[in-house]
Amino acid sequence: MILTEHEQAMLDGKMGEGVKLAMKILVAVGEAYDAPKMVPVTRAHVALSNQEADLWFAEKLVNMGAVCTIPPTVNPSFNLEQFQCITHIDPEDEAIVKRTHEAYKKLGAVLTYNCTPYLEANVPRFGEITAFSESSATPFINSVYGARTNREAAQSALCSAVTGVTPYYGYLLEENRKGEIWVEVEADMKNDFDYQMLGYCTPKFTGFKIPVFTGLHNPSKEALMNLGAQLNTGGNVALYHIVGFTPEASDLETAFHGEIPKEKVVITNEDLKKMRKELTDPSGKIDFALFGCPHFTIAQVKNVAVLVEGKKLAVPLFIMCSASTRNLAKQMGLKNVIEEAGGYLMADTCMDQPSWKFLYGKKGVTDSPKCAYYTKRRDMQFVIASLEESVMAALKGEI
Ligand code: F3S
Repeated sequence: MILTEHEQAMLDGKMGEGVKLAMKILVAVGEAYDAPKMVPVTRAHVALSNQEADLWFAEKLVNMGAVCTIPPTVNPSFNLEQFQCITHIDPEDEAIVKRTHEAYKKLGAVLTYNCTPYLEANVPRFGEITAFSESSATPFINSVYGARTNREAAQSALCSAVTGVTPYYGYLLEENRKGEIWVEVEADMKNDFDYQMLGYCTPKFTGFKIPVFTGLHNPSKEALMNLGAQLNTGGNVALYHIVGFTPEASDLETAFHGEIPKEKVVITNEDLKKMRKELTDPSGKIDFALFGCPHFTIAQVKNVAVLVEGKKLAVPLFIMCSASTRNLAKQMGLKNVIEEAGGYLMADTCMDQPSWKFLYGKKGVTDSPKCAYYTKRRDMQFVIASLEESVMAALKGEI
């Protein structure tokens, strides 16, 4: 790779050992992908996982004196105070949370603990070059904003936050953003839940090619969050286009960079139905309901509040969201409504955190296939249903 004088100085250790290590990793990534050079980044998001490898790397950088030049936002951890009110937290999990918090604080991260930073705290503009990790974030910023990021690991994004640069390859290059397969959606797309199913089933037909959707009309931001999160869970798809809607797809020709699409698939109501059947555990009694994978917006919190207002939930209902959404919900009286019904608004967390151990071995309901996918290894079962159906199930205790 050709490096600038400043980049070479970082690699030579002139800015300290931590910066040297971060630069060494980025150069190795760049060489692996034949990147000719580095380019500056103006934003980063680190998918902090609060797990041992994440902590090991973050503390290593801290001990080597690294500080972020581009303060990144970070993914969920868990809020000890909130969880200690409802469950026992193992001392070793508590220690990891505290150490991770300290390490990222010392690195100069913006401690948002949120997986939808692209909606509030870290919003890129069209064409901006960034280093984002987190599988629901990369498709959103690439596709909906037309910003540019590769599918970064937490560690490579952190290295970019420290050095301020990223290797120039992949989705950062104009030619690699070209649509690769036309996906005509014939399904009705009645609600945001249908976008979860569309996202999960599309890669079954398209592989990891960049899909260009037609037949989608004015999806909500929640629908787009769902679509991206599931495309990047059901597959490795961190960029998609929607003709007439996303900024790099004003029409079909533009989305394919002037070329005629070579392949086309059609997705129908039947495909979405089949996908749901494949993903969901069987119906029956449930022990809990869990939402917010990705973190819920205030509009989604309000939808739940409207459905449970004045009623009593048969099983606990948990909503994961950002601290700012929780605060907003409190100000709007929605938090109170949900809590009076027997629900909880949990800020800063992800269902893949050890704070949810009290649900292991139990069966829940969720609107998110991503939530069900990650918790399989934790022995949690999920019936997957639309948000409305899921809340109704939590009111009855079965689905
Ligand atoms: Fe967010 Fe965790 Fe789901 S980071 S998208 S709640 S897997």
